[in-house]
Amino acid sequence: MRIVLGVGGGIAAYKAALLLRLFSEDGHEVTVVPTEAALRFVGAPTWEALSGRSVQTDVWSNITDVPHVRIGQEADLVVVAPTTADLLAKATHGLAGDLLTNVLLTARCPVVLAPAMHTEMWEHAATRANVATLRQRGVTVIDPDSGRLTGADTGPGRLPEPEDIRAAAMAAVAGAPSRAHAQEGDLVGRSVLVSTGGTREPLDPVRYLGNRSSGKQGLAVAEAAAARGARVTLVAANLELPVAPGIDVVPVQTALELQAEMAARAADHDVVVMVAAVADFRPADYARAKIKKSHDPADPDAAPTIELVRNPDILAGLVSGRGDATTPLLVGFAAETGDATGSVLAHGRDKLARKGCDLLVVNEVGEGVTFGADDTTVHVLTRGSDETVDIGPASKRLVSDGIWDVVAGSLRPRRQRVLD
Ligand code: CTP
Repeated sequence: MRIVLGVGGGIAAYKAALLLRLFSEDGHEVTVVPTEAALRFVGAPTWEALSGRSVQTDVWSNITDVPHVRIGQEADLVVVAPTTADLLAKATHGLAGDLLTNVLLTARCPVVLAPAMHTEMWEHAATRANVATLRQRGVTVIDPDSGRLTGADTGPGRLPEPEDIRAAAMAAVAGAPSRAHAQEGDLVGRSVLVSTGGTREPLDPVRYLGNRSSGKQGLAVAEAAAARGARVTLVAANLELPVAPGIDVVPVQTALELQAEMAARAADHDVVVMVAAVADFRPADYARAKIKKSHDPADPDAAPTIELVRNPDILAGLVSGRGDATTPLLVGFAAETGDATGSVLAHGRDKLARKGCDLLVVNEVGEGVTFGADDTTVHVLTRGSDETVDIGPASKRLVSDGIWDVVAGSLRPRRQRVLD
């Protein structure tokens, strides 16, 4: 996820350094946007060293990058810790005098504010009114902890511990409606099964045939569905990324394990999205002991020949398993490079016809493109239609929202209960 960590000018700014650490260790990309006042408490070198990125407080540097608009637009989550009384007031009234307040105006992602101030300021009618307005607009304003404040005094106003702010932020991401459907929750009542990651086909106890899939795209698809209100199960092949709370994770390793889990669960879901990169082949034999370099006593320099067998096509199996039923809606992903025999889209259309799924999301892959990257471009193809919906380049999360826009449009309306 792309997280913007805003830091306000309060003594608790030092705790934001620990929060930054937590986010980075969870694998997020963090851009720190301190206010000028925050830098009086903790200087720019600390933020730059911990985030690995330069920081700026005003809107006048790096003008060609248009940071006052871009940083907010591209964020998947904005967290401001500590949020001072002054920042709360500015956020409420839409003031935009520095970079952080500009980010707050341009962000369309979940925004989480962690206030910290003296008890009198927190309890003042002005602050109470600002907090109420922000909450009404969908901003998460975390209640401060009670305890020892800057001086000898105690009371409500302490910045919560970094772990608690992280938990509140992740809950906001998992529970937030997506930005395109801010209030709709258009997948509420739907259940979604997503596969992600890349399968590993063991050769011996220490080796496997694998692929370069990071699992980020499938994770983004799952989290976007959860944010729109769906119940989500993620069948995760060798996924090493943290998953938002609220999503059920079923870990698997091999294509056969993935097939078994998908086949057993598909019929209970409204939508199945196969994002996982499934190995098409696996070693025909699994060697129970490590294959030694000199494995053939007759020819110590010989390299072994590894025989492969085909793995099942899981998506095609789900299509045939569905038979004449109309659910689940089946969505495939196609990683294509394009070659002499056809373009990326031409291969995509062929694949959609071959697999027989309802929708196919085609993305372009290759050296340095998409695998492990955060930004991607996809084209969504629908069976029985010549139309192509192009989404991106954008973060995998935003692209996932675009995919759900298309999928939600293809879902049959749920049966209404007749009340009279
Ligand atoms: N897929 C699957 N089972 C496989 C291979 C792929 O279910 N054994 C699914 C993927 O999860 C994806 C879609 O099929 O949703 C397309 O995957 P891709 O690797 O692009 O297609 P392949 O069928 O392997 O076709 P090709 O190798 O010809 O590109």
